[in-house]
Amino acid sequence: MTRNILIAPSLLAADFARLGEEARAVENAGADWLHLDVMDGHFVPNITFGPLVVKALRPHTRLPLDVHLMIGPCDPYLEAFAEAGADHIAIHPESGPHLHRSLQKIRSLGKKAGVVLNPATPVESVLWVLDLVDIIMVMTVNPGFGGQAFIASQLPKVAQLRQAIDATGRDIRLQIDGGVTPKTSRALIEAGADTLVAGSAVYGTPDYAASIAAIRSPA
Ligand code: DX5
Ligand code: ZN
Repeated sequence: MTRNILIAPSLLAADFARLGEEARAVENAGADWLHLDVMDGHFVPNITFGPLVVKALRPHTRLPLDVHLMIGPCDPYLEAFAEAGADHIAIHPESGPHLHRSLQKIRSLGKKAGVVLNPATPVESVLWVLDLVDIIMVMTVNPGFGGQAFIASQLPKVAQLRQAIDATGRDIRLQIDGGVTPKTSRALIEAGADTLVAGSAVYGTPDYAASIAAIRSPA
């Protein structure tokens, strides 16, 4: 089966002194979403940016802003990211005590809701909230940094989630984050992924358009 593969470059690997320009550059290079990694130095061992930067980026691109929250607790900030212009808000089950309630909140704000599974987080943690999710994201690195090595043990998890999503009959994107390159994307697509985040494999290369095309259609 041929799926429509979406590519979401992660701004984490961009030049932080030129974020607006870097957002426009991947839009012009054929990206589908712009992935924004929000880190608090507590949920993950790194700090990036918050709603003010999301708001500042909003006028620079028409791409959907795909906000990946790596903050704990996440609940007090959902509204701020929605108001800042996030189109998708994805959260980790570990970042709050009530995943179901947090997802309800994101949807009540009119945003697409995502659940992100760390490498050690089981598929089961999302199965009872499938009716509330628009995106399931599988981490193929431990969250916190760009440019890490791809964790191939997650491929069977991707395949299991593909089956679970297909059984719902709902339109849920199966997204991958971490270590995605033209070398790893084929196995991910074959396992059932349809949306690929790529930081260093896009922003770390001289030709963003060629890199996006190579990840989308691996040789
Ligand atoms: C890691 C972030 C990723 C990161 C991926 O915590 O969630 O989105 O930018 O970077 P690469 O594609 O370089 O592995
Ligand atoms: Zn991310």
